[in-house]
Amino acid sequence: MSAQAYDDYVRIFDTTLRDGEQAPGFGMTIDEKVRLGRQLERLGVDVIEAGFPAASEGDFEAVRKVASEIRTPIVCGLARANEADIDRAIAAVEKAARPGLHTFIATSDIHLKHKLKMSRAEVVAAAVKAVERARRHVPHVEFSAEDATRSDVDFLVEVFSAAIEAGANVINVPDTVGYAIPHVYAELIQALRSRVKGIEKAVISAHCHDDLGLAASNSLAGVVAGVRQVECTINGIGERAGNTSMEEVVMALRTRKDVFGVETRIQTEQIYSSSRLLTQITGVAVPPNKAIVGANAFAHEAGIHQDGVLKEKLTYEIMTPQSVGVPTNRLVLGKHSGRHAFRERLRELGYADLSEAELEAAFRRFKTLGDRKKEVYDEDLEAIVHEEGADRRAEQYRLISLSVMSGSDAIPTAAVRIEIGGVLKSDSGIGDGPVDAVFQTIARVVGTEAKLVNYAVNAITGGTDAQGEVSVRLAMDGITVSGDAADPDIILASARAYVNALNRLEERRSRATQARTVGP
Ligand code: KIV
Ligand code: ZN
Repeated sequence: MSAQAYDDYVRIFDTTLRDGEQAPGFGMTIDEKVRLGRQLERLGVDVIEAGFPAASEGDFEAVRKVASEIRTPIVCGLARANEADIDRAIAAVEKAARPGLHTFIATSDIHLKHKLKMSRAEVVAAAVKAVERARRHVPHVEFSAEDATRSDVDFLVEVFSAAIEAGANVINVPDTVGYAIPHVYAELIQALRSRVKGIEKAVISAHCHDDLGLAASNSLAGVVAGVRQVECTINGIGERAGNTSMEEVVMALRTRKDVFGVETRIQTEQIYSSSRLLTQITGVAVPPNKAIVGANAFAHEAGIHQDGVLKEKLTYEIMTPQSVGVPTNRLVLGKHSGRHAFRERLRELGYADLSEAELEAAFRRFKTLGDRKKEVYDEDLEAIVHEEGADRRAEQYRLISLSVMSGSDAIPTAAVRIEIGGVLKSDSGIGDGPVDAVFQTIARVVGTEAKLVNYAVNAITGGTDAQGEVSVRLAMDGITVSGDAADPDIILASARAYVNALNRLEERRSRATQARTVGP
C-alpha cells in the first residue's frame, strides 16, 4: 500500500463528551467523562472533544482531566472565537499528550444579524485572530463555520481561506440545524474543495445534526465529496435530534468500502461496549431498532429470515454481530464462579482499570445476584460494575433499605431508609402504585421538588429472572437528568434509579451555579 493510500482515511472526531453531553438528560460527571474517554481511546477515535472549557469550572476540569489521562487520540476543547475562550481551552489541554483546540464562529447571515450583530468583515477578523492565537500554543487547530449549510458559499470560501492562512489544520463544515440534504451538502464540499485557498493543507470535516434524520447520510455524502473527518457521537446523542451516529458512519464505510473506497481506523469490535457504557452512564436507553447497536439490530424474528440465516448468514446479514462486538456467547458466569473468572471476564469486557475496592464491591454484588438469578450474562456484569463504580459510592444520597407492600387488596405502601450526607433518615408513605409510593416517599425524605418526566423499565436479558434495568428522568430548574439501576426486583431497581437521578441532579445543580450562561 502506498504511503498516500495509507493516509487516505476518514478521521473520527468524537464529540460525545461535548455536543452529546449538551443534550438534556445526557450530563456526565467528570469521572464518567474520563471513563468514557478511556473507552473512546480503546475504540480508536482520532480526536476526542472533551468539553467546552469556558462554559463552567466543571467543564474546564473535565477537559483537563480527560486531557491528562488520554494518550493516543488528540484531545481538544471547544472555544468561541474570542481571547478568553481560546485561553481557557489552551489551559485545559495543557497536559494532553496530543493537545488540540476547536474554535468556531457563525457565518450565516441569520446568525450574524440576530445573534452576533457583527459584519462579515468582523467575523473573518475574529476567526483569524482566534486561529492565530490558538496556533501559537496548540499544534492542532480546527476552525468551524457555525451554520455553514445556511451560509453564503462565497463568504464561506473567504472565511475558510483566511482560517487556513492563519494556521487551521482542519476546517469544519457544520450543518448546525440539520438542514442539509445529502447531494446539496456534497456540492457544498466540492465547491469548498475547489475554491478555498490552501485547502490542500487542511482536512475537511463534516459535523451534521439529525433534525431531518439525515446526519449520517449527509456525512457520508460529504466523504464521497472529499471530507476526511467526520464529527459524531456514540449512539448519535446530541443537541435536539442528535449528532451523526459514530457507529452508523463507521460501519457504512466498512460494509460499503466498495462504494466509498475509504475507511476509518476504528476498532469496530469496541463499538457495542462503547454504546453500552454510554447507556449505563447516562441512563438513557438505545431504541431497540437503532442501527448497529439496538437490541434488535441483529435479531432475526421472521420465520423466513431465520430459515435463511440458518442456511447462510449472508442471506439477511450484511455485517456480523461479532464485527461490532455484540456478545454472541452471552452466558458467562454462575453463582459458583470465583473471583478469578469474574475478574477475567470483566477484563474481557473492557473493565481492566477497576481498583481492588471496586472489584471487591462488584464481586459481592455478583454473588448476591447469582443467588437470585440462575445465569449471569455480560449485560448483568456491566450493570453491576456501573452501579458499584467509585463515583456512585461517593454520592450524597444512598438508599440503605426499602420495603414495599402492594397487591390487589392492599394500599401500596413504601418504607425507606436513606443516608443523606452520612445522616440516616427514614419515612413511609402510600402511593397510586408501588413505584409511586416509593418515589413519593423518597422525594419527601430527601426534600426534593424534582419532577418525574420519564420512567422506563427494560429487561436486560431474557427470562423471568432477568434483571430489570430502570431508567428515570427528573427535571428541576431547567435541568434534566437521568438515573438508572438494575435488579431482578424492579421496585428496588426503580428506587435505586430514582436515588441515582437525585444524585445527578444535585451534581448538575451545583455545576450550573458555577457556570456562566454560554453555549454554542
Ligand atoms: O453544531 C455546531 O455547529 C457545533 C459547532 C460548535 C461545531 O456544534
Ligand atoms: Zn453541533
